[in-house]
Amino acid sequence: MQKKILVTGGCGFIGSHTIALLIEKGYDVVSLDNFSNSHKEALKGLEKLTGRTIANLEVNLCDRLETMKAITEAAPFDAVIHFAAYKSVGESMAKPFMYYQNNIPSVINIAEAAVRNGIQHFIFSSSCTVYGDAEVIPVTENTPIGNALSPYGLTKITAEAQLTDVNKRYKWFKPTFLRYFNPAGAHESALIGEASRRPSTNLVPIICEVVAGKREKLAVFGDDYQTRDGSCIRDYVHVMDLAEAHISALELSLIQESKTDIESFNLGIGEGVSVLEAISAFEQVTGKKVNYAIGEKRPGDVAAIFADYSKAAKVLNWKPKRTIEDIMETAWKWEQVRW
Ligand code: UD1
Repeated sequence: MQKKILVTGGCGFIGSHTIALLIEKGYDVVSLDNFSNSHKEALKGLEKLTGRTIANLEVNLCDRLETMKAITEAAPFDAVIHFAAYKSVGESMAKPFMYYQNNIPSVINIAEAAVRNGIQHFIFSSSCTVYGDAEVIPVTENTPIGNALSPYGLTKITAEAQLTDVNKRYKWFKPTFLRYFNPAGAHESALIGEASRRPSTNLVPIICEVVAGKREKLAVFGDDYQTRDGSCIRDYVHVMDLAEAHISALELSLIQESKTDIESFNLGIGEGVSVLEAISAFEQVTGKKVNYAIGEKRPGDVAAIFADYSKAAKVLNWKPKRTIEDIMETAWKWEQVRW
């Protein structure tokens, strides 16, 4: 029988790409999104891409009763993939309460709705930010959870801790933590892509917007870090590789129904790319110049972080297939048609 999956934040960046792949793999999908930081056009893009009508629950996950009612009415579900959250490190530094008030109640409410409706499998969008400023890189899942470097980071650490706690009481409830490094790129069709309502603070969309003439210049945040060219190093992972990892994690959870340990997986490509290298990758694949200048360091940035994804390779049989060039190519294609 077709498994039915609830995807919160289904119209957001990683959520929409994961829905595309879930449908391709034969899952029945219900999206939950209140469009607070996404667009209804994502549903249209998905419908064009998949040839299906996508049901969406327009629910505010911070409202416990509204969440409980909506999930109970739409149940049964075999699994929840919970993406819905605010995700900008910089914005969270400026507006910590906004991050606490959104990211924390929403995860508690959706977890409670899952438990009350007997939904065992729960895939949670986490982040490499849980490792803080790691002493040793690449980071593995055994790298200690660090001090949060931002309110955004604290919400991810807190959510993992709360879901772990819920699993102690309801042992059958099985969260999986997927710790993304730097998600970027877009679907090859350019029918869906990153399109937050609020201005993006991430490197790849900003590069695209500068080249598209929507922003004047890219500020490279610091060039005197202890890295090979002085700019920060990150692990950019293509959003479709991430979507594939979600399917693998979901399938593993569904198969291992009786195994209720919590699993965490690092999802990155295992290679660091500096900000200056990312700019040249963009220039090389698109033939376009990026107008940039070296600016101040951004508070909360770590010099370098990248993943050891060998656990995901071994346990999930997952391997990222796309490169930084694929990321830049698809992100640029999307930028030119995006809503
Ligand atoms: C952070 C999180 C990541 C999370 C992401 C969500 C960490 C270590 N990583 O990524 O897990 O998924 O937020 O948004 O906390 N940069 C510039 N100029 C710009 C913008 C960015 O130079 O205008 C540089 C940054 O200094 C950084 C890199 O580009 O070195 C990537 O930045 P960004 O895209 O904002 O992501 P992170 O903060 O690394």
